[in-house]
Amino acid sequence: MGDFHDEGCEQLRAVWDRVSRAHVLVAVHDTRLGPAHGGIRRWAYEGLDDARRDVVALARAMTWKCALAEVPSGGGKAVILDRPDLDREAAYRLVGRVVEQLGGAFYTGPDVNTTAADLRVVAEETEFVATDAADGPGDLAAATAEGVLAALLALAERLGRPADQLRCIVQGLGAVGAGLCERLAARGAKVLVADVVAARVEDAVQRFGVEPLSVDDVCTTEADIYAPCALGGALTEAVAASIPVRGVCGAANNVFAGERAVQEAHRRGLLVVPDFVANAGALIQGALWNLRGERVDAERIRRIGATTGEVLARSAEEDRPPLELALQLARERVERAGRAP
Ligand code: NAI
Repeated sequence: MGDFHDEGCEQLRAVWDRVSRAHVLVAVHDTRLGPAHGGIRRWAYEGLDDARRDVVALARAMTWKCALAEVPSGGGKAVILDRPDLDREAAYRLVGRVVEQLGGAFYTGPDVNTTAADLRVVAEETEFVATDAADGPGDLAAATAEGVLAALLALAERLGRPADQLRCIVQGLGAVGAGLCERLAARGAKVLVADVVAARVEDAVQRFGVEPLSVDDVCTTEADIYAPCALGGALTEAVAASIPVRGVCGAANNVFAGERAVQEAHRRGLLVVPDFVANAGALIQGALWNLRGERVDAERIRRIGATTGEVLARSAEEDRPPLELALQLARERVERAGRAP
């Protein structure tokens, strides 16, 4: 499968199960800060090269995320090549066996298309996996919501807006988006919410006193801050050029659709908190539980706010997009750890 050295991964394993024909890839990108952490993604890739590119990029992103979250862990990821006749249980078992063979160099958990039931299968093969068991790390989505809130409040401060005068749009009312709404509403912010599932909007309106917004109006409605908590790629170049908000901060991974959107947002002065800074709450809670058996409190998660403030301040000083600054800061931290005796 070629040479992975240039991609910077410490290990990349491609495993094929002869009986079930399940195919999985596991990447350990960097463990200079500590054992790698990253979830399992099941996806209908076009082929092995496509899957390999994805697993490496995702694992690398986890390294930067860990560094900025100040947890003693590095980046990893597992992907399963999905197909209509995949033996799903066999595939997750295979991931579990590879994770077990890595002997604690890589801890895994949920990602796109991986359910709690899938993780219970993985846990039959390895101890290095986070499940929803009672003796697990606790509510990870709530930790993510707490971290996004901390990042969003740091952004609001930068915009000179107290929480009770904020007008925010939350897109996606899943586990994280709903938790964010609840927290914003409790601080007196005005919150507009959109979801493709109408019942989730109704529920949020009832429980938190927020206002419904059509999914089609998310990118054209005025607000201080837009919080994407559904899918990635929300900020295309066109949206970055026109969305009538002053800042963006949400949980969705890979919020920019491409590099030109990053530059366009910066040109306009649209402050976009890097997703991997804002959405690290679950990682912090999960990693510190895995590595130290520590139950973190909200205060620890809220340090994401200080990191966000630092990234935004340096971005303004150096007149570079916050995303570039965050990556630079993360690389510096990993390099420093690499040089430590
Ligand atoms: P979820 O799957 O529980 O919720 C996503 C919500 O978005 C659903 O209610 C869905 O109906 C809605 N949605 C989908 N497409 C939409 C659209 N076009 N417009 C409006 N709503 C739409 O996901 P969860 O766990 O709340 O995560 C949200 C995002 O945050 C995801 O992108 C996830 O990858 C990311 N994330 C989640 C973490 C966690 O701890 N759960 C950690 C880090 C990132």
